[in-house]
Amino acid sequence: MLLLTLESTCDETAAAVIDDRLEVLASVVASQDRLHEKYGGVVPEIASRAHVERIVPVIQETLDQANIRSEQLTAIGVANTPGLAGSLLVGLSAAKALAVAWGKPLVAVNHLQAHVYACRMAARREVFPCVGMVVSGGHTSLYRCQDAVDFELLGSTIDDAAGEAFDKVASMLGLTYPGGPAIQKAAAAGNPQAYQLPRPLLGDADRLAFSFSGLKTAVRYQIAGQGSSLESATARLSSAEVADLAASFQEAAIDCLVGKAELALQQTGLARLCVGGGVAANQRFRQRLEAMAETTGVDLVVAPLALCTDNAIMGAIAIERVKQQRFESLDLDIYPRLDF
Ligand code: KG4
Ligand code: ZN
Repeated sequence: MLLLTLESTCDETAAAVIDDRLEVLASVVASQDRLHEKYGGVVPEIASRAHVERIVPVIQETLDQANIRSEQLTAIGVANTPGLAGSLLVGLSAAKALAVAWGKPLVAVNHLQAHVYACRMAARREVFPCVGMVVSGGHTSLYRCQDAVDFELLGSTIDDAAGEAFDKVASMLGLTYPGGPAIQKAAAAGNPQAYQLPRPLLGDADRLAFSFSGLKTAVRYQIAGQGSSLESATARLSSAEVADLAASFQEAAIDCLVGKAELALQQTGLARLCVGGGVAANQRFRQRLEAMAETTGVDLVVAPLALCTDNAIMGAIAIERVKQQRFESLDLDIYPRLDF
């Protein structure tokens, strides 16, 4: 069985070819980071236009790398939820066109489930049931994952996503986009205890939820007092202050993420944690997760760096649906918001 998977939920245009033993025959990711850099965040209209330009060359390059012909494909998997509406539409339209032209069935991929499935791809062993954690630019959620496609939401952020907070704080510190890697780099030279920052909801021992907007605002007030201009205060920051603020913010955010992951494990009684999404690329977060796993004895699987940020390899989750013959009609729609 050979599967072509497409991913265009946000600002990466990606395709991959994977077989039913989960071997990756080819994977191509065209990043749009440079296009969005000067805006400090993803601009949806720019993202969807860039997907339109890139999707066909990315698919062609993927098939060339895999050295296969379209007739050899079993099905086409495509991420249709959640994400930016315009971006999702490009991937879905391409997938439908190919499904019709090549006479192949269409398989829907849930992008958040795919982020957890990145752990299954990396582990090369069964990882379900587990607590699944997705920490990305758009989501910060914990799930009870019975199997690859049966997810129950345990809790999520009530305001900003963790990655969004990294991006916004980076911008306040005058660092480049995407903010996560820039904060990580600056934090390496900083003192995580230099600034006292809040750990929102962490003290609420029964509640599986995250909140990052107050933490972001607390950083803002450390840079510039209430009412004063952020821009001029950012320009006055020394590199040591930037490093200390980055380190203090990063530690506070990670305290919340690790604390709630541990709470989800306790509440569910599950003994395995799978973590995916762009923020899971953060070295300090990975260290802290490993330390928690060591003290609690939990089986921890964190997606490898290349599979943390958006890619089409994690779309291999579509194979689970192919096995159950869960194909979609050409009426398949996009669902930008996913309320689960
Ligand atoms: O999963 P992803 O590629 O896209 C979404 O589905 O949102 O995640 C992107 C997010 C961005 O907010 C980016 O700043 C963050 O992941 N990120 C990181 C790191 N690398 C990427 N955050 C913290 N540390 C990193 N090393
Ligand atoms: Zn993602």
